Amino acid sequence: MAGVVLKRQQNFLGRICNKAQVKAMAKEIKVAFSGARRASSFFKAFQTHPETEIVALCDPKAETLSEAGRATGVNQLYSVFETMLDDARPDVVVVSSPMQYHAPQSIAALQRDIHVLSEVTAAVSLDECRWLAQACKQSAAIYMMAENYMYMKPNVLVKAMVEAGLFGETYYAEGEYLHELSSLHHMADGSPTWRYYWQVGVNGCTYPTHSLGPCLQWIKERPERISCIGTGIWSDPEHAMEDTTLLLCKTSGDKLIRVRVDMLSKRPHAMTNYTLQGTKGAYESKRRPGEGNWVWLEDFCRDPNDWAPLERFEEEYLPDIWREPPAEAVSAGHGGGDYFEVMDFVDAVQGRKPAAIDIHMAMDMTLPGLVSQESIRRDGEWLEVPNSRDWDCDSAEVARG
Ligand SMILES: NC(=O)c1ccc[n+]([C@@H]2O[C@H](COP(=O)([O-])OP(=O)(O)OC[C@H]3O[C@@H](n4cnc5c(N)ncnc54)[C@H](O)[C@@H]3O)[C@@H](O)[C@H]2O)c1
Repeated sequence: MAGVVLKRQQNFLGRICNKAQVKAMAKEIKVAFSGARRASSFFKAFQTHPETEIVALCDPKAETLSEAGRATGVNQLYSVFETMLDDARPDVVVVSSPMQYHAPQSIAALQRDIHVLSEVTAAVSLDECRWLAQACKQSAAIYMMAENYMYMKPNVLVKAMVEAGLFGETYYAEGEYLHELSSLHHMADGSPTWRYYWQVGVNGCTYPTHSLGPCLQWIKERPERISCIGTGIWSDPEHAMEDTTLLLCKTSGDKLIRVRVDMLSKRPHAMTNYTLQGTKGAYESKRRPGEGNWVWLEDFCRDPNDWAPLERFEEEYLPDIWREPPAEAVSAGHGGGDYFEVMDFVDAVQGRKPAAIDIHMAMDMTLPGLVSQESIRRDGEWLEVPNSRDWDCDSAEVARG
């Protein structure tokens, strides 16, 4: 235990020293945003980061754009994305526009060697995935997908415990995203929003990354084939998506991940339900407010029914980022995920570490959902998930899809 305390003190001192050194540096990374609404969740992280400065914002909606301009003090405001890139010439762009723009805008930035932090999902079609992977390969800039749920404190702690071997070999994981969003399907004037088309206007598991992301970091294998089935349509006959869709993923080592996505059923939100099973232990996240996160570990819990609170393992296993987190992290959206992913992204841009969620990990989280659309159409048929690592991104064939 003394070793753990000493290590933590050293890490803390290291953090202070690094911060002091960095503070002396100029704010050298110019950041631009596309889609000014979700962008606001990231403003504080970039504004308080010693190396970044927000220089430009883009949104076709004038009111949203000027409001974001006022909130940030930024006066380079654009309604067209490519004009912003060419005019403001940022080093980095955060693509937080609606889903159908993620791939085209990321590609446009990568082609200009501008680093990209893209919101989830990475793309809305298999062809777009290939084009995006090709653009990443050909660009000098880095690409990272902003899967923020992977940074939430319980998920990070479970990952560290998996890595320390506490669960033994992990072979089953579940993630659920239950988030009734019907109020966001239409604008005030009754016209449909992007969510209406791209999230519930397509049948399949259209928004799986928040569930898959943490599960993949615990299971540590890529999804190789998937099957998707649904409940049928119950809440609202207008939508193509079945109320609940279940995505089953078999991984390269024959492990199983189950994802449930439901953005339609009438019920309170529960976007962070997770389960993990290994040869030596299990994890059950809290499902309702007021409940706790629990683990059962063979080496710690003598009684087979003796669940232990996850928090009990913080002292020894909580990674440094979550020890004494800054106020901006604690107050950031999505359990701090919106802060920590920005820190990792800036580290990657500065070459201090690889992108935490690179193009291939982004594909591992995005492709299963896209393939699921065909599987659910074929009544749950098992279909292969392409492995983006095998794509020959230099060949013209990739561009043809
Ligand atoms: N990771 C998360 O937890 C999380 C949470 C919320 C939203 N998101 C993602 O963020 C993205 C935006 O979601 P939102 O809730 O802000 O949606 P929203 O509909 O509330 O806002 C989208 C904004 O993008 C603007 N826009 C439309 N077309 C654009 C274009 N071509 N270029 C730039 N901006 C454009 C709109 O005018 C609007 O201001 C989505 O992809 C969504 O999936 C992620």
